[in-house]
Amino acid sequence: MEFAIDRPKLGGFGVESPIRLVGLIFGILVAAGICLRLVARYAHIPCPFWLSGVLQNPLAERRIGSGMLLRRAGVGRGMKVLDVGCGTGRIALPAGECVGAGGEVVALDIQSGMLRKLRARIEQHGLINIRTVHAAAGSGNVERDYFDRALLVGVLGELPSPTEALREIYDALVPGGLLSVTEMLPDPHYQSRGRVRRLAEGVGFRFRESFGNAFVFTLNFEKPSPSEIYGRISS
Ligand SMILES: C[S@@+](CC[C@H](N)C(=O)[O-])C[C@H]1O[C@@H](n2cnc3c(N)ncnc32)[C@H](O)[C@@H]1O
Repeated sequence: MEFAIDRPKLGGFGVESPIRLVGLIFGILVAAGICLRLVARYAHIPCPFWLSGVLQNPLAERRIGSGMLLRRAGVGRGMKVLDVGCGTGRIALPAGECVGAGGEVVALDIQSGMLRKLRARIEQHGLINIRTVHAAAGSGNVERDYFDRALLVGVLGELPSPTEALREIYDALVPGGLLSVTEMLPDPHYQSRGRVRRLAEGVGFRFRESFGNAFVFTLNFEKPSPSEIYGRISS
């Protein structure tokens, strides 16, 4: 005589095997990712303060570590660097050390909570060459023709007016200065390489080089010199 084995059901969802449970969790994560992406696309909500530490972990450090990003942007001693959407200073602090006493870092963010934490960290590290600016990108609060490098790391998709922000960065750079844009998945605000290029070239930047792959990439753009711009217009 045969007896049917009554398997216990997991969590009351009718999930009868671990494989189905893993499938269910994966499905929920994918659905949550799609929802977040849709929300991020239409509501430009800045990364919440409580999530500010999420990029400061060993995995992120390997994929988009501050040292690697500063090398990609060619940041060196004595330079003036603008870090737009600096958060709590994951990149601004090492940038301050990298440019040294003869250089300067301006760290701009829309959220006062991020800047408060950054200021505490600046004090802890005893750095005197990092200035914080509490402002929205593109609102006209940075010097013109002043910076050698500008960084936009995981920020572009959070900006309600990316073109305005890029125009401001263009004006803020000296001729020959570089803008370095980094985007990474699974950031719900992720912007594709094509979109980053269209936006940056749309305000006059010239594409210079690309690093990484479709999941994590950095694109560098150069602000042409006035003679190059003149040459472009007259030819
Ligand atoms: C994902 S975090 C990245 C922080 C930092 N760049 C990093 O890589 O660790 C995005 C940052 O952009 C800032 N942000 C969002 N919208 C902004 C805006 N309109 N103007 C300036 N900063 C903005 C957020 O407050 C947040 O600190």
